Parts: sequence; structure tokens; C-alpha cells
Amino acid sequence: MPAAITPSILNADLSRLADEVGRIPSADMVHVDVMDGHFVPNLTFGLPVVESLMKHTALPIDMHLMIEDPDRWAPAFAEIGVASVSFHAEAAKAHVRLARELRAKGAKACMALNPATDVTPYAGVLGELDMLLIMTVEPGFGGQPFLDLCLPKIKRARRIASAQELELRIQVDGGVSAETIERCAVAGADVFVAGSAVYSAADPDQMVRELRRLADEAAGPTD
Ligand code: DX5
Ligand code: ZN
Repeated sequence: MPAAITPSILNADLSRLADEVGRIPSADMVHVDVMDGHFVPNLTFGLPVVESLMKHTALPIDMHLMIEDPDRWAPAFAEIGVASVSFHAEAAKAHVRLARELRAKGAKACMALNPATDVTPYAGVLGELDMLLIMTVEPGFGGQPFLDLCLPKIKRARRIASAQELELRIQVDGGVSAETIERCAVAGADVFVAGSAVYSAADPDQMVRELRRLADEAAGPTD
């Protein structure tokens, strides 16, 4: 599957969100990080901000919920019409029920794993998901260095998904840049979040296209 690039707006100018999203027309989706100050030691924004942003962009919204109790809060994001909703495996109580609820409300169901969380115990629920998000930094902040120790987990997840003949997309998030994206693609990731790499570039949209090219070349031909 061709690489999808989903820039994170966390490191954009948050006072001008609509303009900042307008700078990345080549993006496949816009990655929006919701943090609650409990699941992670940082606080961002919630549903009303996402709803407002959606009025100013035609790009699909890719929600990443770094929050406690996603079973309670995540479905509301699906209801406002975002394309996909990621909840954290470490925070969810009923993973299957939540994934099914998100899909029933019209969103892609995605589950995120922190760097220390293994994928193997979740092998049985991957079929309930459209995408698995593998964190390649500890969640909470943009601009952190990429953790190479997560690469074997990407490979493992791709192997498990292939063995079950799932069309699971594997997203990586954290420290993804022109220096690290090829490693992720070779390991089996096909959706790439990049925050600081995109928004610190002189031309963010050109960086989106460059990241996609690097990932597609590293992954090799797809059928
Ligand atoms: C971190 C967030 C990421 C972050 C990525 O907890 O989930 O989406 O914005 O930023 P970079 O690409 O700078 O690591
Ligand atoms: Zn994120």
C-alpha cells in the first residue's frame, strides 16, 4: 500500500490552526493530538477545537487520543465525522467494544501502543482494527528523538497482521523525519505521522511529499 503521510499539528502555530493546516495540502490526513494531562503529562485541546478546525479543511482528520477512559470519550470524536480515531491500548477497558463502536459511528478504529507495550497480547484483536499506531517516542510531546527500539515491534505487528491476512495499516508516530522514515517503512509501517519534521521545514508541503517519496522507495514496489 502506498505510504500515507499524516502531519501532526502539535508543533504548528496553534493560534493559527486553520492557516497551518492550509500549508500541507499534499497530506493524506491531519494528525490531531488530544492530551488530557493524566494519561500523558501534557494538555492540548478537545472536541470543540477539532470541530472548529474541521470547518476549515477538507483533509481527513486522524485523531490520536492520549487520554484516560477512551471508552467514554472516544466515540464523540467519531460522531463529529473525523476519519479515524486512535485510542491507547493502555487506557482502554473494553478494546473490542470500543473499536466496534468507533466503526459503527463511521470512523476507522485504531489502537495505539506506547513504546513499552508489546503487540503480541493484542494479536487477537487486530482484526477489529483498521490501523495500529506504534509510538516511536513516549507520548506527550513533539520534537523528541526517534526510538529505534520500537522497530522490531513494527516488524512483529506486520508479521502478525500478514499471518491473519489482515489489511491492517501500521502507523508510526514520534521522531519520524527524513532520517528515520525509511527504517520504519522497511520494518512494515505504511502511515507516517511527522510533526516537527514537517512544521520546522521551510516548505512543509514539500517535506510531506519528500517523506512520502522516501517511504515508498524504502518499502519497494507494491502490487
Ligand atoms: C507525541 C504525539 C505526536 C507528536 C509527533 O505524543 O503523539 O503526534 O506530535 O511529533 P514529532 O514528529 O515532532 O515527534
Ligand atoms: Zn500523535
